[in-house]
Amino acid sequence: MNRRNLLVLVASLGGLGALSLWAAKASGAKLSRMMMSSSGMNMGGMRDAADRIQQLPTGAPLSDLVKLSNTATQPGQFNGVIEAAATQHEFVPGLKTEALTYNGALPGAMIEVFEGDHVKINFKNRIPEQASTIHWHGLEIPSDHDGNPTVPVASGADHTYEFAIPEGSAGTYWYHPHPHQVTAKQVYRGLAAPFIVRSKNDPLSSDLGDTILVISSVSLDVDGKISENTMADQFNGREGDHVLVNGTKQPVLTVAPGSSRRFRLFNATNGRFLRLAIDGHNMTLVGTDGGLVSSPISGLKELLLAPAERAEIVIDFHGAPGSYALSSLPYERGWMGMDKPAAETITIMDFALAGASVQRIELPEKLRDIVPLGEAKSRKRIEFNETMGMGNGMMTMGFQIDGKTFDMDRIDLKSRKGEVELWEIFNNSDMDHPLHIHGTQFQIVERERNGEVFPVAFTAWKDTVNITPKETVRLKIRFNLPGMRMYHCHILEHEDQGMMGTLQVV
Ligand code: C2O
Ligand code: CU
Ligand code: CU
Repeated sequence: MNRRNLLVLVASLGGLGALSLWAAKASGAKLSRMMMSSSGMNMGGMRDAADRIQQLPTGAPLSDLVKLSNTATQPGQFNGVIEAAATQHEFVPGLKTEALTYNGALPGAMIEVFEGDHVKINFKNRIPEQASTIHWHGLEIPSDHDGNPTVPVASGADHTYEFAIPEGSAGTYWYHPHPHQVTAKQVYRGLAAPFIVRSKNDPLSSDLGDTILVISSVSLDVDGKISENTMADQFNGREGDHVLVNGTKQPVLTVAPGSSRRFRLFNATNGRFLRLAIDGHNMTLVGTDGGLVSSPISGLKELLLAPAERAEIVIDFHGAPGSYALSSLPYERGWMGMDKPAAETITIMDFALAGASVQRIELPEKLRDIVPLGEAKSRKRIEFNETMGMGNGMMTMGFQIDGKTFDMDRIDLKSRKGEVELWEIFNNSDMDHPLHIHGTQFQIVERERNGEVFPVAFTAWKDTVNITPKETVRLKIRFNLPGMRMYHCHILEHEDQGMMGTLQVV
């Protein structure tokens, strides 16, 4: 029997509690809470039952994001204050939900800087009882300012993060907490925000606009509480009952017929795969995690964004006035255990074509140079693994890299500063896992499936790459700064359960 069928069988044995590995290792109080919620599940009281899910309103205009204000007076400097705190948020008007927010906003306040800027952030952790950090996802900044779990900021404490934004790094990044074993929970309660690095010479016309679409998700109980993770969430990563764009469900953006518009898309969910498509429209890919691609890639019918991936696209809106949905199509991500969601297409947001038509905007043929990283001086190979077993009458599942569970006191890999490496990552498991590596951007070289090698279609800067079951991905990478970095699956529940390693750059 394969692992997935065994999981279904085990999970369907009535009365058997099911626990994931971290819970088994967690404190007694946490453990008994998990046991209670899992026995509740088995008695049919699951929060997934339709009558426990709070419905959210749809159809509001797309929200603009709150911007973090810059308190510096000198040019080239960005100073800001970010406070993470519990906030009463209304996902449903009149229904109070305790969420976690950066500066009261959900998604958090957006940071916008230019290449070469110097950034100084005063972080105030006002999250009750939990340590936190801010990790600057995708940016090449000194490791001791990168919010590693090894540098926690205690509840009630302040911490200053300071770093320079490298030249040539214009792109679409984000920031989120990275504390040991509670990253998933802090992110699904609301902590995540965009970090945009702009170039003073953007080759894309400002007439395209630049609309940020942060796609996240939320699960709410009818009493307005953000739901705790279910067993399915722990195994698969939390997909969330409702998909949000800039904090609201299925918002509407009105665009002029004929117009060309630029969008930055973020998959800020813990564990939902977004296979995006737009009614009656193709997309043109202009950028990936680490900035623009070398030339626009037009005619895309769909775009897969795994958790933590970003993309910049241009859409040429055409056709009759009316509503065109941005949807997420069904995606087979290798579901573990019970409660596999139905293979449905869901609407993420709507574009309303209305008003006077305008002229389409031609994109430049060339956006920038992306120099291939060149010959690798060293090689690394890592492997994703899942383990499962039964302990004390309960099912456990482990998520590991190279057969090891994360230990922040252990150095798993070593790299030499400035040296190009070839990494080979084999996903020796039954589900997709998006690998993220801190502190640099890499270039995917090729993928190998069933002995067949598929070279990458175009060179691009990435910090997160999805790897399907039994697939091997090869990528080139170079760390320009010394220090400790993390690499992990960006399904945040997997990361918290130990699917993470440490890398020392010397
Ligand atoms: Cu966005 Cu280590 O994470
Ligand atoms: Cu990161
Ligand atoms: Cu994973």
